[in-house]
Amino acid sequence: MYAGTLDTVPTPFYLYDTKLLADTLDELRREACTSEPLHIHYAVKANANPVILRQIAAAGFGADCVSGGEIRAALDAGFPAAGIVFAGVGKADWEIRLALESNIAAFNVESREEMAVIEELAAAMGRTARVCLRINPNVGAHTHANITTGLAENKFGIDMADMLPTIQQAQASPHLSFEGLHFHIGSQIEEMDDFCALARKVNELLSTLAASGIMPRIVNVGGGLGINYCHPHGTQLVPRFRDYFDVYRHELRLKPGQEFHCELGRAIVAQMGSLITRVLYVKHGRHKRFAIVDAGMTELIRPALYDAHHCIETMSIEGRSIHFGNEGATETYDIVGPICESSDVFARDRAMPPLCRGQLLAIRSAGAYGEAMASTYNCRPLPKAYTMKELLSAAHANA
Ligand SMILES: Cc1ncc(COP(=O)(O)O)c(C=O)c1O
Repeated sequence: MYAGTLDTVPTPFYLYDTKLLADTLDELRREACTSEPLHIHYAVKANANPVILRQIAAAGFGADCVSGGEIRAALDAGFPAAGIVFAGVGKADWEIRLALESNIAAFNVESREEMAVIEELAAAMGRTARVCLRINPNVGAHTHANITTGLAENKFGIDMADMLPTIQQAQASPHLSFEGLHFHIGSQIEEMDDFCALARKVNELLSTLAASGIMPRIVNVGGGLGINYCHPHGTQLVPRFRDYFDVYRHELRLKPGQEFHCELGRAIVAQMGSLITRVLYVKHGRHKRFAIVDAGMTELIRPALYDAHHCIETMSIEGRSIHFGNEGATETYDIVGPICESSDVFARDRAMPPLCRGQLLAIRSAGAYGEAMASTYNCRPLPKAYTMKELLSAAHANA
């Protein structure tokens, strides 16, 4: 039975399970509160919906921002400035000034050229900017090429050979305070060996610095922990944060006084979000059957951009709960959007129960890099978002 009571709720929209987010944040906090506390800055770029940001801020985490807009969104949501870090290869002057005025924890500086501008603007404002240097560790990650960031050929970070002179330059400036090192090798990383490789590279760099009498206070390893896009069910829903932190606990050799920081995004929010869409038409092509839905790459660009896989399930409302499932999946469909681009495809040859016009589908694990990357291409409106509670109220008001 499909969700008749949602007949008048316009699709597509994002649906957020804030209870799952709460469980995920609880688990993260449990893992982070060890004798040596771990400092976690949520990567705002993954999902900047104000409801989601407020929940993460209220849980006591910091924020990792990559634009002035994200700094404003983080402050508005209640993240303390002292927990905000600011990365990005192309920080504009107004964004640097905003970060200085807001007195954020640190800039993650991506080049010597950028550091010179931060110094100049801090001097003009009579401030001292706290800086960490983002170092490009030339460590690969087993993930899609478009989300690999830690190789020498990528645009991110300062070359390792320039690390020492850049730190010395920061230390010599009255307007800069050198706080530590920052890294980020990529996203949707499922192999813990990749994080091991980063930890070992960081140890090498720390030894090089120690030989020059430099001990960075902050060691920030960035984000990147992947999630299981194939099985957004049961015990798979809350990521195994312990395995991830254990890699660094065992591999990273920090000295007393050195702090571990990280910037998880996807692992915190991906599983709590689904993109809800309706089947507009079932079209029988010469070779294929297409389910044409009313969401497209404008609402969720990951499949078009990264060939990303998302589990897609039918959705219905049963009493006071929402049901996702594909019982009786006997037919195959290409599930495609309405956008005038051949890449606007969510899934090819996907086994589904027989679909018809009006059927609601949930594109699962869409809480990260979904709504945040939505666009108005084809003059489409940006998607709305509901929490489960809000949707159930809307459904029952319509019943
Ligand atoms: C500097 C930085 N930190 C953290 C993240 C978050 O990565 P993830 O969502 O994979 O945890 C990103 C993502 O691109 C990033 O660029």
